[in-house]
Amino acid sequence: MTAIPFTRGVPSSDMLPVADLEQAAVTALREDGARALAYSPGGYMPLREWIGERHRVDPARVLLVNGSLQGVAFLAQHLFLGRGGVAITEDPTYDRTLISLRTFGAEVVAVPVTPAGVDVDALERTLAQRPARMLYLIPTFQNPSGVSLPEQGRRRVVELARRHEVLVVEDDPYGLLRFEGEPAPTLHELDGGDNVVYSCSFTKTVAPGIRTGYLLLPEQMAGAMARLSENTLIAPNTFAEAALAAYCRAGKFEPNVERATATLKQRRDAMEAALREHFPAGARWTTPEGGYFYWVDLPEQIDTAELLPQAAERGVPYISGKEFSPRGRSSLRLAFSAVAPEQISEGVARLGALFSEALTPAGV
Ligand SMILES: Cc1ncc(COP(=O)(O)O)c(C=O)c1O
Repeated sequence: MTAIPFTRGVPSSDMLPVADLEQAAVTALREDGARALAYSPGGYMPLREWIGERHRVDPARVLLVNGSLQGVAFLAQHLFLGRGGVAITEDPTYDRTLISLRTFGAEVVAVPVTPAGVDVDALERTLAQRPARMLYLIPTFQNPSGVSLPEQGRRRVVELARRHEVLVVEDDPYGLLRFEGEPAPTLHELDGGDNVVYSCSFTKTVAPGIRTGYLLLPEQMAGAMARLSENTLIAPNTFAEAALAAYCRAGKFEPNVERATATLKQRRDAMEAALREHFPAGARWTTPEGGYFYWVDLPEQIDTAELLPQAAERGVPYISGKEFSPRGRSSLRLAFSAVAPEQISEGVARLGALFSEALTPAGV
Protein backbone atom coordinates (compact mmCIF):
# COMPACT_ATOMS: atom_id res chain seq x y z
CA MET A 1 0.00 0.00 0.00
CA THR A 2 1.45 3.42 -0.92
CA ALA A 3 2.38 5.59 2.03
CA ILE A 4 0.56 8.93 2.05
CA PRO A 5 1.98 10.88 4.98
CA PHE A 6 0.01 13.83 6.34
CA THR A 7 2.54 14.45 9.09
CA ARG A 8 5.17 17.19 8.80
CA GLY A 9 4.42 20.48 7.11
CA VAL A 10 7.01 20.64 4.36
CA PRO A 11 6.83 21.45 0.67
CA SER A 12 6.88 18.35 -1.57
CA SER A 13 10.11 17.69 -3.45
CA ASP A 14 8.59 18.81 -6.77
CA MET A 15 7.96 22.25 -5.22
CA LEU A 16 11.66 22.87 -4.49
CA PRO A 17 13.33 25.35 -6.88
CA VAL A 18 16.43 23.22 -7.40
CA ALA A 19 17.68 24.69 -10.68
CA ASP A 20 17.17 28.31 -9.61
CA LEU A 21 18.98 27.71 -6.32
CA GLU A 22 21.83 26.01 -8.15
CA GLN A 23 22.15 29.08 -10.35
CA ALA A 24 21.94 31.36 -7.32
CA ALA A 25 24.66 29.43 -5.48
CA VAL A 26 26.95 29.78 -8.49
CA THR A 27 26.21 33.51 -8.72
CA ALA A 28 26.88 33.97 -5.00
CA LEU A 29 30.26 32.28 -5.25
CA ARG A 30 31.26 34.03 -8.48
CA GLU A 31 30.19 37.51 -7.49
CA ASP A 32 30.77 37.57 -3.75
CA GLY A 33 32.64 34.35 -2.97
CA ALA A 34 34.92 35.67 -0.24
CA ARG A 35 32.02 37.13 1.75
CA ALA A 36 29.76 34.14 1.09
CA LEU A 37 32.38 31.86 2.62
CA ALA A 38 33.36 34.04 5.58
CA TYR A 39 31.79 34.26 9.04
CA SER A 40 28.99 36.83 9.00
CA PRO A 41 27.78 37.42 12.57
CA GLY A 42 24.09 38.30 12.46
CA GLY A 43 23.88 37.00 8.90
CA TYR A 44 24.97 37.82 5.34
CA MET A 45 24.40 41.55 4.98
CA PRO A 46 22.93 41.67 1.43
CA LEU A 47 20.15 39.31 2.56
CA ARG A 48 19.55 41.35 5.71
CA GLU A 49 19.27 44.40 3.45
CA TRP A 50 16.82 42.69 1.09
CA ILE A 51 14.66 41.67 4.04
CA GLY A 52 14.99 45.13 5.61
CA GLU A 53 13.74 46.72 2.36
CA ARG A 54 10.71 44.40 2.21
CA HIS A 55 9.68 45.20 5.77
CA ARG A 56 10.96 48.78 5.88
CA VAL A 57 13.20 47.95 8.81
CA ASP A 58 16.83 48.89 9.40
CA PRO A 59 18.99 45.83 8.47
CA ALA A 60 20.65 46.19 11.90
CA ARG A 61 17.35 44.96 13.34
CA VAL A 62 17.22 41.91 11.02
CA LEU A 63 18.83 38.87 12.64
CA LEU A 64 19.30 35.91 10.30
CA VAL A 65 18.98 32.49 11.90
CA ASN A 66 19.35 28.89 10.74
CA GLY A 67 15.61 28.38 10.39
CA SER A 68 13.02 30.37 12.28
CA LEU A 69 12.78 27.78 15.04
CA GLN A 70 16.29 28.81 16.05
CA GLY A 71 15.11 32.41 16.29
CA VAL A 72 12.27 31.37 18.60
CA ALA A 73 14.75 29.33 20.67
CA PHE A 74 17.04 32.37 20.97
CA LEU A 75 14.10 34.45 22.17
CA ALA A 76 13.11 31.78 24.69
CA GLN A 77 16.69 31.59 25.94
CA HIS A 78 16.97 35.38 26.17
CA LEU A 79 13.72 35.80 28.06
CA PHE A 80 13.49 32.72 30.29
CA LEU A 81 16.81 30.98 30.87
CA GLY A 82 17.80 31.11 34.54
CA ARG A 83 14.78 33.11 35.64
CA GLY A 84 11.66 31.35 34.37
CA GLY A 85 8.47 33.26 33.81
CA VAL A 86 5.27 32.83 31.87
CA ALA A 87 4.91 32.46 28.11
CA ILE A 88 1.39 32.76 26.77
CA THR A 89 0.69 30.76 23.63
CA GLU A 90 -2.31 29.75 21.61
CA ASP A 91 -3.96 26.40 22.31
CA PRO A 92 -3.27 24.49 20.10
CA THR A 93 0.10 25.78 18.98
CA TYR A 94 3.25 24.67 17.14
CA ASP A 95 4.65 21.69 19.05
CA ARG A 96 8.33 22.52 18.57
CA THR A 97 7.90 26.01 20.04
CA LEU A 98 6.30 24.46 23.12
CA ILE A 99 9.34 22.19 23.53
CA SER A 100 11.71 25.12 23.14
CA LEU A 101 9.87 27.36 25.62
CA ARG A 102 9.83 24.61 28.25
CA THR A 103 13.47 23.71 27.64
CA PHE A 104 14.48 27.25 28.52
CA GLY A 105 12.36 27.30 31.67
CA ALA A 106 9.14 29.03 30.64
CA GLU A 107 5.82 28.12 32.19
CA VAL A 108 3.41 27.87 29.28
CA VAL A 109 -0.11 29.24 29.72
CA ALA A 110 -2.34 28.62 26.71
CA VAL A 111 -5.32 30.56 25.40
CA PRO A 112 -7.85 28.80 23.13
CA VAL A 113 -7.92 29.32 19.39
CA THR A 114 -11.37 29.81 17.84
CA PRO A 115 -12.28 29.48 14.14
CA ALA A 116 -11.44 33.22 13.96
CA GLY A 117 -8.01 33.02 15.56
CA VAL A 118 -6.97 33.34 19.17
CA ASP A 119 -9.83 34.10 21.58
CA VAL A 120 -8.93 37.71 22.37
CA ASP A 121 -11.35 38.00 25.31
CA ALA A 122 -9.76 34.94 26.93
CA LEU A 123 -6.34 36.42 26.17
CA GLU A 124 -7.33 39.64 27.92
CA ARG A 125 -8.40 37.71 31.03
CA THR A 126 -5.20 35.64 31.00
CA LEU A 127 -3.00 38.70 30.66
CA ALA A 128 -4.76 40.29 33.62
CA GLN A 129 -4.19 37.19 35.78
CA ARG A 130 -0.75 36.03 34.71
CA PRO A 131 2.00 38.60 34.15
CA ALA A 132 3.95 37.17 31.21
CA ARG A 133 7.25 37.85 29.49
CA MET A 134 6.24 36.57 26.07
CA LEU A 135 3.07 36.27 24.04
CA TYR A 136 3.76 33.81 21.23
CA LEU A 137 1.22 33.92 18.40
CA ILE A 138 0.92 32.56 14.86
CA PRO A 139 -1.83 34.91 13.66
CA THR A 140 -1.92 33.85 10.00
CA PHE A 141 -2.72 30.30 8.79
CA GLN A 142 -1.79 29.06 12.21
CA ASN A 143 0.10 25.85 12.78
CA PRO A 144 -1.69 23.56 13.57
CA SER A 145 -5.23 24.97 13.27
CA GLY A 146 -4.91 26.71 9.87
CA VAL A 147 -7.02 29.67 11.10
CA SER A 148 -6.21 33.41 10.99
CA LEU A 149 -6.92 36.31 13.31
CA PRO A 150 -8.85 39.17 11.62
CA GLU A 151 -7.58 42.75 11.70
CA GLN A 152 -9.78 43.92 14.55
CA GLY A 153 -8.50 41.13 16.79
CA ARG A 154 -4.93 41.97 15.81
CA ARG A 155 -5.42 45.58 16.83
CA ARG A 156 -6.72 44.47 20.22
CA VAL A 157 -3.82 42.05 20.72
CA VAL A 158 -1.26 44.76 20.02
CA GLU A 159 -3.00 47.15 22.39
CA LEU A 160 -3.38 44.54 25.15
CA ALA A 161 0.26 43.50 24.88
CA ARG A 162 1.38 47.09 25.29
CA ARG A 163 -0.96 47.65 28.20
CA HIS A 164 0.31 44.53 29.97
CA GLU A 165 3.94 45.10 28.97
CA VAL A 166 4.39 41.73 27.37
CA LEU A 167 6.60 41.20 24.35
CA VAL A 168 4.74 39.72 21.38
CA VAL A 169 6.49 37.13 19.22
CA GLU A 170 4.64 36.93 15.92
CA ASP A 171 5.62 33.74 14.08
CA ASP A 172 4.65 34.12 10.43
CA PRO A 173 6.12 31.47 8.13
CA TYR A 174 2.86 30.96 6.18
CA GLY A 175 1.46 34.48 5.67
CA LEU A 176 2.51 34.83 2.02
CA LEU A 177 0.84 31.56 1.02
CA ARG A 178 -2.71 32.89 0.69
CA PHE A 179 -5.30 31.14 -1.53
CA GLU A 180 -8.15 33.62 -1.08
CA GLY A 181 -9.39 36.46 1.12
CA GLU A 182 -7.74 39.74 1.99
CA PRO A 183 -4.55 39.79 4.02
CA ALA A 184 -4.73 41.53 7.39
CA PRO A 185 -1.81 43.68 8.54
CA THR A 186 0.74 41.82 10.64
CA LEU A 187 0.97 42.52 14.36
CA HIS A 188 4.43 43.87 13.60
CA GLU A 189 3.02 46.39 11.14
CA LEU A 190 0.23 47.43 13.48
CA ASP A 191 2.59 47.84 16.40
CA GLY A 192 5.40 49.54 14.52
CA GLY A 193 7.86 46.94 15.78
CA ASP A 194 8.79 48.25 19.27
CA ASN A 195 6.84 45.62 21.13
CA VAL A 196 6.55 42.88 18.52
CA VAL A 197 9.29 40.57 17.33
CA TYR A 198 8.44 39.29 13.88
CA SER A 199 9.72 35.82 13.02
CA CYS A 200 9.71 34.55 9.46
CA SER A 201 11.27 31.79 7.41
CA PHE A 202 12.16 30.75 3.87
CA THR A 203 11.30 27.12 4.73
CA LYS A 204 7.72 27.21 3.49
CA THR A 205 8.23 29.64 0.62
CA VAL A 206 11.56 28.39 -0.82
CA ALA A 207 13.02 25.26 0.81
CA PRO A 208 13.43 23.84 4.33
CA GLY A 209 17.00 22.69 3.66
CA ILE A 210 18.18 26.24 3.02
CA ARG A 211 17.73 26.64 6.81
CA THR A 212 17.24 30.36 6.73
CA GLY A 213 14.82 32.37 8.78
CA TYR A 214 14.90 35.79 10.38
CA LEU A 215 13.78 37.93 13.26
CA LEU A 216 12.82 41.58 13.00
CA LEU A 217 13.79 42.88 16.42
CA PRO A 218 12.83 45.96 18.42
CA GLU A 219 15.81 48.30 18.40
CA GLN A 220 16.45 47.86 22.13
CA MET A 221 16.76 44.05 21.75
CA ALA A 222 18.88 43.88 18.61
CA GLY A 223 22.28 44.10 20.32
CA ALA A 224 21.56 41.47 22.98
CA MET A 225 20.12 39.04 20.44
CA ALA A 226 23.06 39.55 18.07
CA ARG A 227 25.44 38.71 20.96
CA LEU A 228 23.41 35.64 21.89
CA SER A 229 23.58 34.45 18.29
CA GLU A 230 27.31 35.12 17.99
CA ASN A 231 28.07 33.42 21.31
CA THR A 232 26.06 30.37 20.22
CA LEU A 233 27.10 29.85 16.61
CA ILE A 234 29.53 32.64 15.68
CA ALA A 235 27.52 33.20 12.52
CA PRO A 236 24.57 31.52 10.84
CA ASN A 237 24.99 29.63 7.55
CA THR A 238 26.42 32.46 5.48
CA PHE A 239 26.80 30.43 2.30
CA ALA A 240 23.14 29.40 2.26
CA GLU A 241 22.15 33.00 2.96
CA ALA A 242 24.36 34.26 0.13
CA ALA A 243 22.75 31.81 -2.30
CA LEU A 244 19.33 32.88 -1.09
CA ALA A 245 20.26 36.55 -1.45
CA ALA A 246 21.33 35.94 -5.07
CA TYR A 247 18.05 34.05 -5.63
CA CYS A 248 15.99 36.91 -4.23
CA ARG A 249 17.96 39.63 -6.03
CA ALA A 250 17.46 37.72 -9.30
CA GLY A 251 13.70 38.19 -8.81
CA LYS A 252 12.98 34.52 -8.18
CA PHE A 253 11.32 34.80 -4.78
CA GLU A 254 7.92 36.27 -5.68
CA PRO A 255 7.27 33.93 -8.65
CA ASN A 256 8.18 30.99 -6.46
CA VAL A 257 5.71 32.10 -3.79
CA GLU A 258 3.05 32.37 -6.50
CA ARG A 259 3.83 28.89 -7.81
CA ALA A 260 3.87 27.38 -4.33
CA THR A 261 0.57 29.08 -3.48
CA ALA A 262 -1.10 27.71 -6.63
CA THR A 263 0.15 24.20 -5.88
CA LEU A 264 -0.92 24.39 -2.24
CA LYS A 265 -4.36 25.68 -3.17
CA GLN A 266 -4.97 22.63 -5.37
CA ARG A 267 -3.97 20.44 -2.44
CA ARG A 268 -6.18 22.37 -0.03
CA ASP A 269 -9.11 22.00 -2.46
CA ALA A 270 -8.49 18.28 -2.78
CA MET A 271 -8.39 17.87 0.99
CA GLU A 272 -11.58 19.91 1.50
CA ALA A 273 -13.46 17.79 -1.02
CA ALA A 274 -12.11 14.54 0.40
CA LEU A 275 -12.90 15.48 4.00
CA ARG A 276 -16.48 16.31 3.03
CA GLU A 277 -16.82 13.05 1.19
CA HIS A 278 -15.07 10.63 3.51
CA PHE A 279 -14.92 11.88 7.10
CA PRO A 280 -17.63 10.68 9.47
CA ALA A 281 -20.57 12.83 10.56
CA GLY A 282 -19.57 14.94 13.54
CA ALA A 283 -16.10 15.77 12.19
CA ARG A 284 -15.54 19.55 12.25
CA TRP A 285 -12.93 21.78 10.71
CA THR A 286 -12.34 25.34 9.53
CA THR A 287 -11.26 25.59 5.90
CA PRO A 288 -7.84 27.28 5.83
CA GLU A 289 -7.50 30.24 3.45
CA GLY A 290 -3.78 29.59 3.07
CA GLY A 291 -0.83 27.78 4.56
CA TYR A 292 -0.20 24.06 4.96
CA PHE A 293 -2.68 22.56 7.43
CA TYR A 294 -6.12 21.32 8.34
CA TRP A 295 -7.08 20.74 11.95
CA VAL A 296 -10.00 18.34 12.35
CA ASP A 297 -12.00 17.75 15.53
CA LEU A 298 -13.57 14.29 15.60
CA PRO A 299 -16.36 13.00 17.84
CA GLU A 300 -15.10 12.59 21.40
CA GLN A 301 -15.24 8.77 21.38
CA ILE A 302 -12.13 8.89 19.20
CA ASP A 303 -8.63 9.08 20.64
CA THR A 304 -6.48 10.06 17.68
CA ALA A 305 -3.21 9.05 19.38
CA GLU A 306 -4.55 5.54 20.05
CA LEU A 307 -5.48 5.11 16.40
CA LEU A 308 -2.07 6.15 15.11
CA PRO A 309 -0.62 2.62 14.80
CA GLN A 310 -3.63 1.62 12.67
CA ALA A 311 -3.31 4.77 10.57
CA ALA A 312 0.38 3.97 10.03
CA GLU A 313 -0.52 0.40 9.01
CA ARG A 314 -2.84 1.86 6.39
CA GLY A 315 -0.03 4.16 5.23
CA VAL A 316 -1.71 7.39 6.35
CA PRO A 317 0.11 8.79 9.38
CA TYR A 318 -1.02 12.12 10.82
CA ILE A 319 -0.19 14.05 13.97
CA SER A 320 -2.51 13.65 16.93
CA GLY A 321 -3.91 16.84 18.39
CA LYS A 322 -2.30 15.90 21.71
CA GLU A 323 1.07 17.04 20.37
CA PHE A 324 -0.26 20.57 20.11
CA SER A 325 -2.80 20.83 22.89
CA PRO A 326 -3.92 19.14 26.09
CA ARG A 327 -7.43 19.41 24.60
CA GLY A 328 -6.37 17.68 21.38
CA ARG A 329 -7.34 14.09 22.27
CA SER A 330 -9.98 13.77 19.54
CA SER A 331 -8.32 16.08 17.05
CA LEU A 332 -5.68 15.66 14.40
CA ARG A 333 -3.54 17.82 12.15
CA LEU A 334 -3.38 16.99 8.48
CA ALA A 335 -0.62 18.62 6.45
CA PHE A 336 -1.66 18.80 2.79
CA SER A 337 1.53 20.54 1.64
CA ALA A 338 3.58 17.51 0.68
CA VAL A 339 0.97 15.31 -0.97
CA ALA A 340 -0.33 15.42 -4.57
CA PRO A 341 -4.10 15.97 -4.97
CA GLU A 342 -4.97 12.40 -6.13
CA GLN A 343 -3.09 10.98 -3.19
CA ILE A 344 -4.81 13.38 -0.82
CA SER A 345 -8.20 11.98 -1.91
CA GLU A 346 -6.98 8.41 -1.48
CA GLY A 347 -5.33 9.10 1.89
CA VAL A 348 -8.29 10.97 3.35
CA ALA A 349 -10.58 8.14 2.18
CA ARG A 350 -8.42 5.64 4.11
CA LEU A 351 -8.48 7.82 7.20
CA GLY A 352 -12.22 8.41 6.89
CA ALA A 353 -12.75 4.64 6.80
CA LEU A 354 -10.55 4.16 9.88
CA PHE A 355 -12.41 6.79 11.91
CA SER A 356 -15.83 5.58 10.78
CA GLU A 357 -14.91 2.03 11.85
CA ALA A 358 -13.72 3.35 15.22
CA LEU A 359 -17.07 5.04 15.72
CA THR A 360 -19.07 1.93 14.86
CA PRO A 361 -19.55 -0.36 17.88
CA ALA A 362 -18.02 -3.82 17.34
CA GLY A 363 -20.35 -6.42 15.82
CA VAL A 364 -22.79 -3.85 14.41
C1 LIG B 1 4.79 28.14 13.13
C2 LIG B 1 6.14 27.64 12.76
N1 LIG B 1 7.23 28.26 13.22
C3 LIG B 1 8.45 27.85 12.92
C4 LIG B 1 8.66 26.75 12.11
C5 LIG B 1 10.06 26.31 11.86
O1 LIG B 1 10.48 26.63 10.60
P1 LIG B 1 12.01 26.70 10.21
O2 LIG B 1 12.22 25.59 9.23
O3 LIG B 1 12.18 28.04 9.62
O4 LIG B 1 12.84 26.49 11.44
C6 LIG B 1 7.56 26.05 11.60
C7 LIG B 1 7.75 24.85 10.78
O5 LIG B 1 6.91 23.99 10.67
C8 LIG B 1 6.27 26.51 11.95
O6 LIG B 1 5.16 25.90 11.51
